[in-house]
Amino acid sequence: MTELVSLKGIVKHFPGVLANDNVDFTLRRGEIHALLGENGAGKTTLMNILYGLYRPDSGEIYIEGRRIEISSPRDAIKLGVGMVHQNFKLIPSHTILENIILGLKEVGFIINYKKISEEIRKLAESYGWRINPNAYVWQLTAGEKQQVELLKLLYRDARILILDEPTSVLTLQECRILFQALKRMAREGKGIIFITHKLDEVFAISDRVTVMRKGRVVITKETSKTDMSELAQYMVGRPVLFSIQKERTQPSGEAIIIKNLKAFNDKGVLALKGVDLVVKKNEIVGVIGVTGNGQQELVEVIAGLRKAAEGSILIDGINIANSSPDRIIELGVAYIPPEPLKYSIAPNLTIVDNLFMKAYRYKPYSNGILINWKKIYKKADELIKNFQIISPSLSTKAKSLSGGNLQRLILARELSGLIGDKIPKLIVAAYPTKGLDIGATEFVHKTLIEYSRKGSGILFISEDIEEALMISDRVAVMHDGRIVGIFKPGEVDMEKIGLMMAGVQVVPAI
Ligand SMILES: Nc1ncnc2c1ncn2[C@@H]1O[C@H](COP(=O)(O)OP(=O)(O)OP(=O)(O)O)[C@@H](O)[C@H]1O
Ligand SMILES: [Mg+2]
Repeated sequence: MTELVSLKGIVKHFPGVLANDNVDFTLRRGEIHALLGENGAGKTTLMNILYGLYRPDSGEIYIEGRRIEISSPRDAIKLGVGMVHQNFKLIPSHTILENIILGLKEVGFIINYKKISEEIRKLAESYGWRINPNAYVWQLTAGEKQQVELLKLLYRDARILILDEPTSVLTLQECRILFQALKRMAREGKGIIFITHKLDEVFAISDRVTVMRKGRVVITKETSKTDMSELAQYMVGRPVLFSIQKERTQPSGEAIIIKNLKAFNDKGVLALKGVDLVVKKNEIVGVIGVTGNGQQELVEVIAGLRKAAEGSILIDGINIANSSPDRIIELGVAYIPPEPLKYSIAPNLTIVDNLFMKAYRYKPYSNGILINWKKIYKKADELIKNFQIISPSLSTKAKSLSGGNLQRLILARELSGLIGDKIPKLIVAAYPTKGLDIGATEFVHKTLIEYSRKGSGILFISEDIEEALMISDRVAVMHDGRIVGIFKPGEVDMEKIGLMMAGVQVVPAI
């Protein structure tokens, strides 16, 4: 029996949605199985069923040939099934060790910290991870937190590991470390289900790939027997362009002028050490660099969410440094934040509330006293259509949207110029395609380009160098709190870009 998991005829309804429609899926021992599909295709739902978070309406689950019922994650873990969700579920104020043993009965009343600490360190080391079990979780990078989540499962002897979009929070270097560890786990005979939107990752790591579309499995194939365009076509149901032909518009006046901007990070360390950057109207400026070099602080200062310690940010000659977020919005700055779930969605409010949480106070949606719901609903309908947000109704709660549809919702809110029906002067887009399927990514790229044509200046933060080169008019490299180089796509080769990202100045930073 080589099959670790076999799901047969899984059906799962949510109000108004058939999330899983008679799904068959198998996972073999020693296999890395990629699970692909558009936003809302039903991937997370299927895995939540295998992990015992949801009960299927019908269908059967077999683990190593044995028919079983899983009614909670606790059951799943006992059966050797573990899942790492996109949003980590660790307790920041506890140590790595405490997080790992939390809920484990086996450790008994008297905890032998020294022994367990040694076991965890050894386990981590066997996968090439260097961690200190006594470090606090709040001190860890996203990559390290993910390692702890995996260690928690491995420490409980999980043989079936589910990773839901694990690379969307990782830097390139962290991805490489993760992939090596996963390959090692597969060699040990574990089975790994790997959800992703990135086709290159499917080819880098998986043995087989399954594509889901609208709740159904479209195909399962050996990865070596398919290619990117075939998979893309299965996912979206039409051919997909992998590169965008971008007509260059002539940039005009400045949308934003940033001078000698300095700011501290949350730990009180100087994270922006004098940023100088100009984005013109009609221009897309991509900012690339290793995550954690000040990108987050930069966008937060521009959006008014973080204090500037020194320097200026000019929009139409007005210095917005240290202005309130409301004032900055009124001046025409749209902000697409990183990690929408954490910062910019109210999960328990409806879609329409989330769409209008800023605009409801402004004309034409309010006359200053009363809210015009009719107008709001009409506009909301239009946005849902234009941004292709898939959901049963406008009064669905935001938390029941799939990850990618949430991102579309934020784009709709931030880009549609709801306030005063104007297009934004400046769009600050921080990692706007993270977690999006290829169809939606294409949509975001097109939308940003369209806004740049209409006159918006766009500051586009990305971890994906190729993406930045493709859609930007100029690309700035950020390192250690400064812009260390700025160039036009095609002017500089990849090797030089790599050097700049490591902090070596090879082209002038003007
Ligand atoms: N708890 C829930 N309540 C209501 N509807 C839900 C719930 N969870 C998922 N859905 C719906 O089920 C469908 C499938 O969602 P799912 O999260 O499985 O998609 P996905 O393939 O993981 O997408 P993504 O790539 O965007 O994460 C979507 O239409 C979603 O809105
Ligand atoms: Mg999902």
